[in-house]
Amino acid sequence: MGHSKWTPELEIGIPFVDADHKVLVSLLDQTEDCIEQHEETVLLGSVLSALTEYVSYHFAREEKLFEGCGYAGAGFHIKIHRDLETEVLAFYRRFKDDPQSVEADEIHDFLRDWLVEHIVGHDFAFRKACIGNEEAIAAAAAMPFFKVGGDKAGTAPEWGSLRVLVVDDNPNMLNIIETILRAGGINNIELTESAAEGLAWLVERPADVVFCDWVMDDMNGAEFARHAAEIEPGAKVILLSGHSIDEVRQRSAGAGISGYLEKPVTAAGLLEMLASLSS
Ligand SMILES: [Fe+2]
Ligand SMILES: [Fe+2]
Repeated sequence: MGHSKWTPELEIGIPFVDADHKVLVSLLDQTEDCIEQHEETVLLGSVLSALTEYVSYHFAREEKLFEGCGYAGAGFHIKIHRDLETEVLAFYRRFKDDPQSVEADEIHDFLRDWLVEHIVGHDFAFRKACIGNEEAIAAAAAMPFFKVGGDKAGTAPEWGSLRVLVVDDNPNMLNIIETILRAGGINNIELTESAAEGLAWLVERPADVVFCDWVMDDMNGAEFARHAAEIEPGAKVILLSGHSIDEVRQRSAGAGISGYLEKPVTAAGLLEMLASLSS
């Protein structure tokens, strides 16, 4: 099972489209990493959820571009988008209902086929009609992945200066959280693989928000939060856990936790939590 690495042949030449496609291929790679490494279900679930969410966002951006360019093939292309969306959602639902029912090869083939074939087979067709139409490109590029108050309302949060530290001993979890944060427009991100490393980072540099795993080798999330509060009292700590949040909440009472997120995480859930803290 080979990874579907990004290749220059996939490049369309419209920066936001290529950037989206890179995110999608990266999510596909992360899915494959999780499968190959027999990752826990909550992790694969987090990656598949982010993939589903990003697919819808990307399709909406492309469709806004078609509208702005008056692309003649829009009707056909949009129908393919809806079909793919339905398919990926059904697939994700089936995984959620029974993770064991989904075979590794099936996930790999399905995602690679529809994603890469759609880029090469269909997305290249709108290139000629849209490239050079800077106004339409700028309008579609400006659509944010996450808006406060949901898709239909609200504005994109201003997260340009937000500093986020992520502490999790699982590199695949760090990867997916970083992908979600970057998609949400957060660029100042530090990833650390242990609580000790995270605390050492806080001594050196400030952070506004810390996402921290509940179970880590060197200490749990509550101990981490207590130490973090001594070093950086302004930092808000959000605990992530695959265990029952009620139990984690009880066990971390008094540790100054600002929020709890259950794994598998979703991009919307994670960014909403962030928005509620920074508003
Ligand atoms: Fe696309
Ligand atoms: Fe497309």
